Amino acid sequence: MTKTSSFGTTKREGHNSAAFYERNIQNFFRQPASAAELAVEIPAHTGWADQIYHQSSTSMTPLPDNGIALAFTSPPYNVGKDYDDDMGLEAYLDLIRNVAKEVYRVLRPGGRYVINIANLGRKPYIPLHAFFYSLHLELGFLPMGEIIWQKGEGASSNCAWGSWLSAKAPRLRDIHEYLLVFAKQDYSRPDKGQSSIERDDFMEATLSIWKIPPESAQKIGHPAPFPVALARRVIKLYSYINDVVLDPFAGSGTTCVAAKQLARHYVGFDISAEYCALANERLGMQIQQELIISRTFEQELENFEADLI
Ligand SMILES: C[S@@+](CC[C@H](N)C(=O)[O-])C[C@H]1O[C@@H](n2cnc3c(N)ncnc32)[C@H](O)[C@@H]1O
Repeated sequence: MTKTSSFGTTKREGHNSAAFYERNIQNFFRQPASAAELAVEIPAHTGWADQIYHQSSTSMTPLPDNGIALAFTSPPYNVGKDYDDDMGLEAYLDLIRNVAKEVYRVLRPGGRYVINIANLGRKPYIPLHAFFYSLHLELGFLPMGEIIWQKGEGASSNCAWGSWLSAKAPRLRDIHEYLLVFAKQDYSRPDKGQSSIERDDFMEATLSIWKIPPESAQKIGHPAPFPVALARRVIKLYSYINDVVLDPFAGSGTTCVAAKQLARHYVGFDISAEYCALANERLGMQIQQELIISRTFEQELENFEADLI
């Protein structure tokens, strides 16, 4: 058995981290709920899942409490896309907070909320992800980790470097966004389920930098879609087969498409009728056309059944 030492340790098998988790810094964070608090009734998915709702996610009235295993979303960044209002920071964070309260309500114990967010601008640099941390911790979410989504290599064609070869005003050129990972009430799922992630995917997905190319807005017909491959990786890592996956800012429905491909149920919300129609169209389409990894819903089920044998 190894333990956390002043010099770290290279062996992780049988590692005892108890001393680390007894340190005073831990007191700042909400502790996982008791077994009694975790033992709530989970509603069946029938009647409300596998639908896109044309409705604001600040009030997800069709959804019962405790029915969602994973929420994955990319909120509006408030940067001037055609669906963005010109909100001040406080009004923007109020929207994110109101949606987060609803996500907390509908998540089941041990459910996860994964939020894709980028920081904005340079003068000032607006660290949205830092504001998102405070807000979600205040609401009681448990922080589970953070993924850097690397969207490009050297951004060679991007010349927004500020002062060329000069220290006068060099600017960083972001080639990444964040995925913030939170949990409701427990870091571990109290229930048992069937996962559908294979060894190599698991090894890659549990590293904190994910290199996945961005999606083309033009190809999808939405100003800011994320790639199906990103949603697939989140869903495979953080949910079981047959779970219900929610996207409260569904846009073109990417999260829902990935959930359907992976034999999960889905629910999406968007305030735009046009994007709800687009999401429904993508969900009804031959999903294979959109696959970066060519694995269909049926294949996923076959793999799942083969694993059981
Ligand atoms: C960044 S986009 C999501 C894109 C999505 N991940 C995809 O792959 O297409 C944010 C979406 O949030 C929607 N939206 C903005 N405010 C909303 C609200 N209060 N409730 C639900 N959707 C909202 C916008 O219409 C927009 O489609």
